[in-house]
Amino acid sequence: MAKMWAGRFSKEVDETVNAFNSSISFDGRMYRQDIRGSVAHATMLSDCGIIPKDDAQKIIAGLKGILSDLDSGALEMDPTAEDIHMFVEAELTKRIGDAGKRLHTARSRNDQVALDVRLILRDEIAEIRVLLKKLLQTLVQLAEQHTETIMPGYTHLQRAQPVTLAHHLLAYVWMLLRDDGRLADTAKRMNYCPLGAGALAGTTYPINRHQTARLLEFTAPVPNSLDAVSDRDFCVELANALSLLMVHLSRFSEEIILWCSWEFKFIELDDAYATGSSIMPQKKNPDVTELIRGKTGRVIGDLTTLLTMLKGIPLAYNKDMQEDKEAVFDAIDQAKLCLKTFDPMLATMRVNKENMRAAAAKGFINATDCADYLVKKGLPFRDAYKITGTLVARCISEGLTLETLPLAAYREACPQFDEDVYSAIALETCLNGRISEGGPSAEAVAGQLRLAKQAIEALNA
Ligand code: ARG
Repeated sequence: MAKMWAGRFSKEVDETVNAFNSSISFDGRMYRQDIRGSVAHATMLSDCGIIPKDDAQKIIAGLKGILSDLDSGALEMDPTAEDIHMFVEAELTKRIGDAGKRLHTARSRNDQVALDVRLILRDEIAEIRVLLKKLLQTLVQLAEQHTETIMPGYTHLQRAQPVTLAHHLLAYVWMLLRDDGRLADTAKRMNYCPLGAGALAGTTYPINRHQTARLLEFTAPVPNSLDAVSDRDFCVELANALSLLMVHLSRFSEEIILWCSWEFKFIELDDAYATGSSIMPQKKNPDVTELIRGKTGRVIGDLTTLLTMLKGIPLAYNKDMQEDKEAVFDAIDQAKLCLKTFDPMLATMRVNKENMRAAAAKGFINATDCADYLVKKGLPFRDAYKITGTLVARCISEGLTLETLPLAAYREACPQFDEDVYSAIALETCLNGRISEGGPSAEAVAGQLRLAKQAIEALNA
């Protein structure tokens, strides 16, 4: 494709440089946003008397034709074009002649690309938030089914104190709600229109930046023309929000990988969401969750790419910034893929309540409650803690649990122990006694579920 800027040059650009420079293979994805921006720009130019009305009409009709031909596939993108902006403009001029050459008045590709990226990220954030809301709803539904499903809570991956699956799942609900908050916040902060900044220093034409901002549903124009064309903070913010979202999905994935191992057997994945081995017939592998864990590294890499790309470039536009798109689009695509796969995988997994309960019944997760029993009988917590420690050691050496240790052994350690110690350390007692706000008892979880449902309903995704 002939260069727009050929007049300044006495030679054709080297083929390798052409291919190296071209971004259409990845910015072609923004064609709808590019055309939408151009329609708004042409409308404004005409309303401000900068281009003739009938030229603007031709431009807008031409752009709409290009849009529907690209949508239908009747028009293919030229892979040798420099970028989507050049391609659309050249195609427009091909279709409507001289009027097409007026579109780029009072505009530069620098404000144009800054606009297109903001527009597409805004759309993508809206899509991601819909997927996230769906996952949140699945989690709450699962939690509602498992308020009585006792499982061990862990610290250091050692059985610690009893919780329920509902309580465990709700922890992820709160993480994902914060992720949604970060996405909403990113969308809000990026919603300022860079159009009209020109190459870097505005324009001498009497443009109306408020009109284009309004037509494109932005809050207001970006107040500084240099910032308008050199800012990619919104790409960083989005990649950051997505990295943290991925970290949450990855932690959850790691738990699911553990839970479906033979060692745990807390859950079984549906056959549709697991894979087999080419050699070991017994295998059922949690590939989906492993891929999510793996892709998390990739999204964090995208964030690092963006930060590193930006850190050394002076104001205003530099071609380094063309590298923003592949990184931020990849973060978006990977996060969307993960959300789309994770949700139905969770919804279809089978929970093995018996194994969860059996794991909770071993491992002395009622030891804190045993100590608390003595505290209620008047002992200081530190003494109670020490006595219980000796009892646990005795159980381990005799192959017993606190439930099966004879009362005589309890009394030997401390005469304050009575027959009622057994009901005090029963699993259900230990769980349902944890009534503090935010705790795992059925009563506390019911309150938490109410709050979570309210928060999810209030999301405007
Ligand atoms: N393809 C370019 C990008 O993605 C568009 C802006 C080009 N501007 C320039 N002055 N070369 O950043």
